[in-house]
Amino acid sequence: MKTYRVAVVGATGMVGQRFLSLLENHPWFEVVAVAASARSAGRSYREAVGGRWAMATPIPQKTGDLIVLDADADAAKIAGMVDFVFCAVDMKKEEIRALEEKYAKLECPVMSNNSAHRSTPDVPMILPELNPEHMEIVPFQRKRLGTTHGFISVKPNCSLQSYVSAIHPLREFGVSKVLACTYQAISGAGKTFATWPEMVDNVIPYIGGEEEKSEQEPMKIWGRIENGVIVNAQTPAITTQCLRVPVTDGHMAAVFLSFDRKPSIQEIKERWAAFSGEPQKLRLPSAPEHLIHYFEEPDMPQTRLCRDTEHGMAACIGRLRPDSQYDYKFVCLSHNTIRGAAGGAILMAELYAAKGYFDR
Ligand SMILES: NC(=O)c1ccc[n+]([C@@H]2O[C@H](COP(=O)([O-])OP(=O)(O)OC[C@H]3O[C@@H](n4cnc5c(N)ncnc54)[C@H](OP(=O)(O)O)[C@@H]3O)[C@@H](O)[C@H]2O)c1
Repeated sequence: MKTYRVAVVGATGMVGQRFLSLLENHPWFEVVAVAASARSAGRSYREAVGGRWAMATPIPQKTGDLIVLDADADAAKIAGMVDFVFCAVDMKKEEIRALEEKYAKLECPVMSNNSAHRSTPDVPMILPELNPEHMEIVPFQRKRLGTTHGFISVKPNCSLQSYVSAIHPLREFGVSKVLACTYQAISGAGKTFATWPEMVDNVIPYIGGEEEKSEQEPMKIWGRIENGVIVNAQTPAITTQCLRVPVTDGHMAAVFLSFDRKPSIQEIKERWAAFSGEPQKLRLPSAPEHLIHYFEEPDMPQTRLCRDTEHGMAACIGRLRPDSQYDYKFVCLSHNTIRGAAGGAILMAELYAAKGYFDR
């Protein structure tokens, strides 16, 4: 596989930092540019990120010396330097939509962590093991944008990675109804305990916009391409509540579900154990060996012990048992800034690379 040159747009943020640490020794992708707001531009990355560096490993040496570019003002320069960009910025939705389209129209593919384009009907929202076929919408999007090469692809919200992965292999049993309560880490808000001390010994029962994303995005993932757009699935019915909890990394979900054709516990566990997708078939560098890990211990999965399973790319499940209102209930977990953000976007980019979408 050839090496692709990439830029991280939003490099100083929580997800941007995660991108840089995951890409440090990546076999296919080399970070040649970093960009952020005008506030950071013009300074070395090390200086611009300063005390905000929140990763367990040090700032990658080469990246630390790069001069931060202005994501908007330097877009043409960046697009000329790279094969594609990763984008994770905290801006108004319409500004993000415009920024991402700007890069795409500069013929630079955008692998996005942002939610701004998730409901755009010809923008694929890829969870690589679940819906790789949605990449086939890209030619329709390119036609709308008037590009030959540039396009935007998004990854879904961090809250849903674990339970949508868990439900997906069970869809053949006609999943009819889902209730999911999520318990989400503070890094999901770009924060640490140092920058958000109010979260110590606290739970905040509200995360703006999160429940809508957690209920609606799975329907696009399970949708189908029809006449150049992705038409959302109609089932299952999903309802959620999303809470912020005092955890650094790792989003947990308590899930209840019912089926049209109720499988046995054994059948569910067999489907989970056997599940594998295109990333595993293609042996993509960031693909976990198994997306789904089932824990038999009654007190697992736990955020601190399990979030790094398969380098943070797994969906960890436990406590599958019958329920009195729904058919079954279980608990699941995924790392929100790895599988749920940077790692998920890197795996998505590996899939596009393997299928030749970045080649001119
Ligand atoms: N954290 C998660 O677990 C997670 C998971 C999935 C998706 N996301 C999404 O990823 C995106 C970034 O989240 P985050 O948690 O990394 O946020 P964050 O830590 O607040 O970082 C925000 C980044 O955006 C940059 N930025 C802000 N205003 C800008 C502007 N006008 N022009 C260019 N860059 C600008 C910042 O640069 P400066 O340092 O120069 O201000 C910084 O690099 C958001 O859309 C978020 O919803 C986050």
